[in-house]
Amino acid sequence: MSPMIPLFRPSFPEVVRQAITQDIDSILRDGALMLGAHNTALEAALAETAATTCAATVNSCTTALTLALDFFGARGNEVLVPSASFITSVSSVLFAGGSPVLVDANPETLSFSLEDLRRKITPRTRGMLWVHLTGVISAEADDILEFAREHGLFVVEDCAHALGASYGGRKAGSLGDAGCFSFYPTKIVTSGTGGAVVTSNPGLDAHVRKMRLFGKRPGDGQVDALGNDWFLDEIRACVARHHLSCMPQQSARRDAIAHAFRKGLAGVPGIGFPRVPEQSRPSYYQFPVFLSSRELQQRVARRLNDEFGIQSKKIYTPTHEEVCFRHLDDGSLVNAADMLHRSLCLPVHATMSDEDVARVVSALRTTVDGNQSQ
Ligand SMILES: Cc1ncc(COP(=O)(O)O)c(C=O)c1O
Repeated sequence: MSPMIPLFRPSFPEVVRQAITQDIDSILRDGALMLGAHNTALEAALAETAATTCAATVNSCTTALTLALDFFGARGNEVLVPSASFITSVSSVLFAGGSPVLVDANPETLSFSLEDLRRKITPRTRGMLWVHLTGVISAEADDILEFAREHGLFVVEDCAHALGASYGGRKAGSLGDAGCFSFYPTKIVTSGTGGAVVTSNPGLDAHVRKMRLFGKRPGDGQVDALGNDWFLDEIRACVARHHLSCMPQQSARRDAIAHAFRKGLAGVPGIGFPRVPEQSRPSYYQFPVFLSSRELQQRVARRLNDEFGIQSKKIYTPTHEEVCFRHLDDGSLVNAADMLHRSLCLPVHATMSDEDVARVVSALRTTVDGNQSQ
């Protein structure tokens, strides 16, 4: 069998690895491991990428989400959050002292169902955590933002998948009140682990900077809030900063792979794609296709792995099916569950060759075709 094609693979070209090695040597030589030049440079580059005026790094996207939700007053209030997301989109609301209200998905946009948003709003709703799942900003972005404005809700964008994505020229992280990024190993830019809050709200930026250093006030250093050492150390900031410099080239490759998948799989009976409107530029963190049933999804994923050496996965298990969140299932989250269980993310990363892409297309066509009637 040909070598396994992994689902994710961070890529650091040789010149970048050399630059990182040299910089880490300087960091260690100088003993300057905290919030120095690499963090400052990374924050400037992130603010530029997201088209915001501020960016503050932290140790994970979950921390970023929690601090943003805390700042906007989630505590004691309800926050609308999609069931179709990663677990910490929901747990960050609880960490911030709020009550997550799970919202069903629109399977075409991979984002909030507007109908369910309207059903779930109550006098206690304070804001929403809007996830750009797989790196696609919803085709209903303007309606979602209008809904939030109408009801006076804060909007925290979970951009863990969406670094570099845009909608109508507006960058992920700049559409709402804040955007939160992840530098987890599978992400578009990684530092091992890490995260950041981008915003054009200087108050939020100052809050994150204070909370990531134990809650110490700038100036007199008094602790007036319960923070922690949530900052991103210089070594990881250095890795992320260099990796971010590779993003234009690597994102162009993701784009090319996504277009090749769409072209190669167009018209195959039983394979659907998310709706990506003309004005949307996804990051293609993941490339999901949708099969006609969850049973077919499972068979196809197994055959891709066992017979063709190709890794794939569903986007996520719906959060309301996780043991710790089952109590949040009010029976309305059916589209989110159906969409996620039928989803199949194909490998998409900068190191994939054209031959790898052709192998994925051909294997998927063969497996879907061979399993359709079973
Ligand atoms: C949508 C989403 N939000 C948040 C996170 C959490 O990111 P981190 O691991 O950096 O806390 C992830 C991680 O995969 C994610 O996919």
